[in-house]
Amino acid sequence: MNNLLKKIDYNNIPNHVAIIMDGNGRWAKKRGKLRSFGYEKSIQSIIDSLNACQELGISYITLYVFSYENWNRPKQEIDNLMDLFYKNFDNSLEEVNKKKLKILVIGDIHKLSRLIQKKLIYFMDKTKHNKSGTLILAISYGAREEILRATKNIAEKIIKGKGKYSIKDINYSFFQNHLYTKNIPDVDLIIRTSGELRISNFLLWQSAYAEFYFTDILWPDFRKKDFFEAIINFQKRKRRFGKI
Ligand code: IPE
Ligand code: IPE
Ligand code: MG
Repeated sequence: MNNLLKKIDYNNIPNHVAIIMDGNGRWAKKRGKLRSFGYEKSIQSIIDSLNACQELGISYITLYVFSYENWNRPKQEIDNLMDLFYKNFDNSLEEVNKKKLKILVIGDIHKLSRLIQKKLIYFMDKTKHNKSGTLILAISYGAREEILRATKNIAEKIIKGKGKYSIKDINYSFFQNHLYTKNIPDVDLIIRTSGELRISNFLLWQSAYAEFYFTDILWPDFRKKDFFEAIINFQKRKRRFGKI
């Protein structure tokens, strides 16, 4: 681990890392267990990643917890996942407060149960003064849904705004301010586990110039050292942003 840390350039730490935590079901299946076993085992990988962020001084981390399209999974699987979220809320809040992280939930949370919605709102409220970093939880999140929602809100503002806004006001920052991630900087690095090479409707607007890191490791096996490997790989990239 120390050898890995030595390879890290502390002057080139990504500001915002986002993770597609994939491969939990397959991890469990490989062991002859129910998919939900994989979800339970995914908690340690989250803790490891948050610890790595803290050690490196990463300010923003977004975790893809449950996608908009995941609502199309069998009811039993969704129920298991929701039970797991609910069961882990109190411990997670403690952990997050210990790390002085602020929580922001992004996604269409109205599709979640009232109980879970209330917990998430409580979570955001209880951590709103924390200053060490921001943990963004993408729950019931889909980037296309987010973009459509922003578009509708902007249209409504212009139509009902009694002349306060016009089409000329729509620029990048105006649009960005209507996304769930308003005030959150663009993503620098997206990590996806489990060997899948796709974005699955995650942060489409925010990842316009993100670097991607794909690994075959299944999420429940992902540890701090793997996070460091991703950062080292990111630091080898030459980011041009369209310039030469
Ligand atoms: C990702 O793991 C987490 C959620 C979608 C909640 P999966 O459940 O997609 O695991 P695999 O990809 O089937 O192995
Ligand atoms: C993306 O994983 C969503 C989360 C990790 C929460 P999926 O497993 O749902 O993605 P696809 O269906 O393989 O693209
Ligand atoms: Mg998957």
